[in-house]
Amino acid sequence: LYIGEKVGSGKGSKVDIAVDPLEGTNLVAKGMNGSIAVLAVAEEGVLLHAPDMYMDKIAVGPKAAGKINLDASVEENLKAVACALDKNVPDLTVVILDRPRHAKLIEEVRKAGARIQLITDGDVSPAVATAFEDSGVDMMLGIGGAPEGVLAAAALKALGGELQGRLVPGNEQEEERARSMGLADPRQLLTMDDLVKTNDVIFTATGITTGSLLRGVRFTADGAVTHTVVLRGLTGTMRIIEARHRFDKKPSWRDLCAEAK
Ligand code: FBP
Repeated sequence: LYIGEKVGSGKGSKVDIAVDPLEGTNLVAKGMNGSIAVLAVAEEGVLLHAPDMYMDKIAVGPKAAGKINLDASVEENLKAVACALDKNVPDLTVVILDRPRHAKLIEEVRKAGARIQLITDGDVSPAVATAFEDSGVDMMLGIGGAPEGVLAAAALKALGGELQGRLVPGNEQEEERARSMGLADPRQLLTMDDLVKTNDVIFTATGITTGSLLRGVRFTADGAVTHTVVLRGLTGTMRIIEARHRFDKKPSWRDLCAEAK
């Protein structure tokens, strides 16, 4: 799907879709933890049409929502989150993408004394995990993909958490692209309501490889087991679906076997 592509019969209600069918491509390629297939859907016009560029992000769960500020210092944010969670700063775990661009950020978090979990890829899952108290993730910080920011914001909207973002256009072309998507100031602070205008949003993610949020696909003798979460923002309902798939009942499997004979 490209941004703005129209799908469906054209007869039902119009919706916005944010999707990343494989969030964490490298993770899957290397058999590492933390990749998901993820999608958010809401009525037309409410999800930010995030251009494919970087976004600086800060994400927290419900208890720390309203206490963070992307423009504040790392130390200030850590203190605010620690107070909100009734913890000490050294007891906080902050997830950050392991990238050279984050050297200063990592140094600041370390100086403040918080724990750091560096990840090689996939910042949607840890951002959403901040909303689950037993996930062990208190905060997600740093620059990652902008579309991933919208997806994480959709989940946090449904869960009562908060994500703030700011696009990081790399050149004049990217600035222009951001403007053409409705952001007069490409570097404006993006609040939850800028990213996802309504709480009537549905978010779903299925684990591909096991991560802080979901178990990955487990292959069984006759198929596979998948682990999915579906969040409905309007009612706050969270559905956890464990699906057992039978490969022998799938058309593609039968076709493959027939071809092989
Ligand atoms: P993909 O879905 O393209 O595999 O993205 C993985 C990812 O790690 C995102 O989670 C993250 O936001 C972004 O890439 C970081 O970009 P980069 O690898 O350029 O630092």
